[in-house]
Amino acid sequence: MERFEKNFIFGLATSSYQIEGAAAEDGRSPSIWDTFSKTPGKVYKGHTGDVACDHYHRYKEDVEILKEIGVNAYRFSISWPRIFPEYGKYNPKGMEFYKKIIDELIRNDIKPTVTLFHWDLPMWAYNMGGWLNRDSVKWFQEYAVKVFEELNNSVKLWTTHNEPFCASVLGHDLGIHAPGHKNTREALIAAHHILLSHGAAVKAFRKFNFKDSKIGIILNLTSCYSVSDAKEDIDATFRYDGLANRWFLDPIFKASYPQDMKEVLIKLAGEFDFIKDGDLQKISIKNDFLGVNYYSRALVKFFQDSKLNYQSVKGNLKKTAMDWEIYPEGLYDIIIRLRKEYTRLPIYVAENGAAFNDVLSEEKQINDVERIDYIKGHLMKIVDLNQQGADIRGYYLWSLMDNFEWTYGYSKRFGIVYVDFKTQERILKDSALWYRKVIKNRTIE
Ligand code: BGC
Repeated sequence: MERFEKNFIFGLATSSYQIEGAAAEDGRSPSIWDTFSKTPGKVYKGHTGDVACDHYHRYKEDVEILKEIGVNAYRFSISWPRIFPEYGKYNPKGMEFYKKIIDELIRNDIKPTVTLFHWDLPMWAYNMGGWLNRDSVKWFQEYAVKVFEELNNSVKLWTTHNEPFCASVLGHDLGIHAPGHKNTREALIAAHHILLSHGAAVKAFRKFNFKDSKIGIILNLTSCYSVSDAKEDIDATFRYDGLANRWFLDPIFKASYPQDMKEVLIKLAGEFDFIKDGDLQKISIKNDFLGVNYYSRALVKFFQDSKLNYQSVKGNLKKTAMDWEIYPEGLYDIIIRLRKEYTRLPIYVAENGAAFNDVLSEEKQINDVERIDYIKGHLMKIVDLNQQGADIRGYYLWSLMDNFEWTYGYSKRFGIVYVDFKTQERILKDSALWYRKVIKNRTIE
């Protein structure tokens, strides 16, 4: 039997664009994901977040489900274009929605964990240059300050950005996420400004002197393994790690970008003149915790025909419906490494979960044993890590319910609650019932 200590947080996570819907309601203006999803060929079958899980109208029912599952925390994000539909124009109606959810959560003894940016950049900001414009740091800080002022002491756990790697590299270099650009230099500029905006938001947060409130950032981290002992594969793996992990961890915890990666990237992206004096001190401002999202490992080999001369390959472990290998040891490895090389700050696993091809039975049940195994495997590693003093304070399972899975639209189901997207009916999967038991007993059997 594996036990969790009494203050351990068992949470569930979602994000605004993936669940809210109500895309044009109460003054919300479009984000880059509205535009991207409506651009033919970008998202599976042209799916959009226009309606999504209709959470904007069903949030009370959804909080009741959280209560039923028994979580003590819920992580969600705020849609920036709901709060500021135009530059400098505050929309109280948009903020009211989040105040209502927070009231509902607190009434049910569920701690709200708020993320300020989960990729839905307002179109007005994009039209002014988006993350490529250094002024985006200021726009984000202004947005953050307004949210801190309005939500105030009701939120005790704040996170600035979710996975800056995705917003920068997937969105600006690989082009598979909004805004869909394909330019390495842009990705590095976007990443730098996102990190700077994190520093600016944390700095602003400190001025409020909130009682017992904490702030941090969430990074998606992957443990990387070489396919062989050959030097070229090992070096390729280190480069993969350089962009996926170290490009974000080093500035935050060491106030520098990794030198080996700078040398490689300068050839692809030109001079780093967008990094100004003092920037790295601002990025490495003290945080209260680190959020880690972990889904799978990366298996890497040398590959001549790619920009950074590496390629991630599929190993032969069991895979989820995303074709991601299931490897809980990778979570273990990445946390041990964080402790050795980067930080002693408290850690929250801010996302972990899996998509599978769920089958709804005639009795309206979903027997998702594979998902239960996936979650169980990762939770066991957390117990193990904590027994060794890793100080992981909580676990947010991704996701509360099936939702808009970005480029995959509604075709990939990550929820522990099934959503019938035609009727918006919610059905607890077996994994939700299993998670409820784990939470209630604070034990994995
Ligand atoms: C993101 C989520 C996403 C999940 C599964 C994470 O990268 O933060 O928004 O749904 O992974 O792909």
